[in-house]
Amino acid sequence: MDIRSGEVAVITGAAEGIGRALAIRAHAAGMKLVLADIDGPRLAETADALTQQGADVLALRTDVAVAAEVDALADAAFARFGTVHLLVNNAGVAVAKSAWETSLADWDWVLGVNLYGVIHGLRAFVPRMLEGGHPGHIVNVASIAGLISAPSMAAYNVSKHGVVTLSEGLHHDLRLRGAALGVSVLCPAWVRTRIAESERNRDAPDRTCVADQGPIAGQAAQMVAKAVASGMDPAQLADIVFASIEANRFYILTHPETRAVVRARLDDILEDRLPTAPAMGFGKTRDRAP
Ligand SMILES: NC(=O)c1ccc[n+]([C@@H]2O[C@H](COP(=O)([O-])OP(=O)(O)OC[C@H]3O[C@@H](n4cnc5c(N)ncnc54)[C@H](O)[C@@H]3O)[C@@H](O)[C@H]2O)c1
Repeated sequence: MDIRSGEVAVITGAAEGIGRALAIRAHAAGMKLVLADIDGPRLAETADALTQQGADVLALRTDVAVAAEVDALADAAFARFGTVHLLVNNAGVAVAKSAWETSLADWDWVLGVNLYGVIHGLRAFVPRMLEGGHPGHIVNVASIAGLISAPSMAAYNVSKHGVVTLSEGLHHDLRLRGAALGVSVLCPAWVRTRIAESERNRDAPDRTCVADQGPIAGQAAQMVAKAVASGMDPAQLADIVFASIEANRFYILTHPETRAVVRARLDDILEDRLPTAPAMGFGKTRDRAP
């Protein structure tokens, strides 16, 4: 899709991190913004900062895990701007635990935000984007964890593999229909955000902390936090995403070194080998220009 000034972008999880960087990048392209996040005060800060820079912003506190809230976001977006050109299903959370350490509440939370959040975004926005009949684009934010199976990330891996296959199916279904909507699935390795502090976005009664976790989960959480801290700058990632939308790239692998890890997984499957363990440090050092 060619991004034109005045077009409308909807971004979930936009209060900070990758979502905020995408909002700043979308404004730089002259787009109008619909920003959603569960963290109302931080969302308001981001929206105010962009408004002061001249952006036309609609900000709505939204829990993407709740279908009715995402429907209300779509209603508000179409009521305000009449149309949507770019939908970025970005909101996400992480729990670093093995399958047996992951509680039912953890599974519900991670799948609710990371997978159902994307499902709700597609249900709420795609029919109306199709009705508009104009070119548009959908970016679903998965992770390299959607293409490989990193250790101690059970629920996160499942949610992100779900987002990848959901995006592939969406691409096929839109092509079959002859729709003018492109699709991309974003699969980064580490990016410098607060994803390792996701617990902040969780309802208080469900909160756990690293100290309460078993030895595997505690160690994994510390490794993730360290890798994220040395990850790619979100602004650089946003540049790559926008260049990819304009080039209509489907798989956006932002960290070149992860390609070998994906290839190793496919080779394991095709050659009937036991799974190769991906190193948790993948993608943490080398950044790539768009
Ligand atoms: N940071 C990384 O290394 C990395 C790597 C690969 C993929 N990702 C993905 O990128 C996306 C953005 O994460 P980030 O790294 O910017 O993390 P972040 O924690 O900095 O930002 C996530 C944003 O999502 C919001 N959010 C959380 N739960 C929500 C909910 N239920 N409804 C609406 N908003 C909610 C948070 O308030 C926050 O503003 C996620 O989907 C994440 O899985 C991140």
